[in-house]
Amino acid sequence: MVSFKELGLVNTREMFAKAIKGGYAIPAFNFNNMEQLQAIVKACAETKSPVILQVSKGARNYANQTLLRYMAQGAVEYAKELGWEKPQICLHLDHGDSFELCKSCVDFGFSSVMIDASSLPYEENIALTKKVVEYAHQYDVTVEAELGVLAGVEDEVSSAVSHYTKPEEVVDFATRTGCDSLAISIGTSHGAYKFTPEQCTRDPKTGKLVPPPLAFDVLDAIMEQLPGFPIVLHGSSSVPQEYVDMINQYGGKLPDAVGIPEEQLRKAAKSAVCKINIDSDSRLAFTAAVRKVFAEKPGEFDPRKYCGPARDLMEELYKHKIINVLGSNGKAE
Ligand code: 13P
Repeated sequence: MVSFKELGLVNTREMFAKAIKGGYAIPAFNFNNMEQLQAIVKACAETKSPVILQVSKGARNYANQTLLRYMAQGAVEYAKELGWEKPQICLHLDHGDSFELCKSCVDFGFSSVMIDASSLPYEENIALTKKVVEYAHQYDVTVEAELGVLAGVEDEVSSAVSHYTKPEEVVDFATRTGCDSLAISIGTSHGAYKFTPEQCTRDPKTGKLVPPPLAFDVLDAIMEQLPGFPIVLHGSSSVPQEYVDMINQYGGKLPDAVGIPEEQLRKAAKSAVCKINIDSDSRLAFTAAVRKVFAEKPGEFDPRKYCGPARDLMEELYKHKIINVLGSNGKAE
């Protein structure tokens, strides 16, 4: 058993309380490799933004849980080396799908876990979430739960359909489970293809797809039921068109990839939404930069020469999200 406190990590409790009060959101960036982690830590150290490092089940399988844990511990030390005296870094399990997986992460030094039982019937979601909460809280590890279903594909989580969260269920769910935060479904979706062309309109000038707006009325109704309770948005990549264009220009094929407009995320960040999950945008930045190097320098075979530019582009992306979308800069001085 390793406590996250020994690793210099923090749970989400104080982060979220401050974020709700201050009208901003904490970035939750997924990572599964060194370049991503370096880019996240550099961006957060420079902007003094609290951050949630997310590890999905797929990332755990890809990169190995032990390595990821030491990488997160290393992130704290690296942040200090970069001059960030009191880094506020949380290590979070994204989309835990069983009690055993959540327990293993708690025992292994994670400071926060998500139990995603949203695909189960309501009472089973409550029972499983409650079991994880009871275990995790013994070690001061915070727990995110989910109500409602998001569409899209993310590692091992996928759903073809989405159901908005029912505001009339949230008080009962939060009270009976004791969860610390609640991921809701209001129209966001995992992956780079969040909406089908049929769900969108097309901008006559650029020919690009314009996605349907998020259901802010559902968010408002949830906040009315649970005033001041931390709300989480998954599937919140905006799929920047400059990366999509770069990928397509340099031999990729991502037709009609579309995400959540940043103005809508900005609006959400000012409300009780205090954690915004971003994974796909970082994948797009990485891929765009690598494709550019491969296209322009076909003789290059030193991974540092293409992973380096990918890291730089991801760092730029993370800083942009922190400063211009989430507003979390300067909140972890
Ligand atoms: P995106 O695919 O929109 O980046 O969402 C990531 C996410 O929600 C991780 O849980």
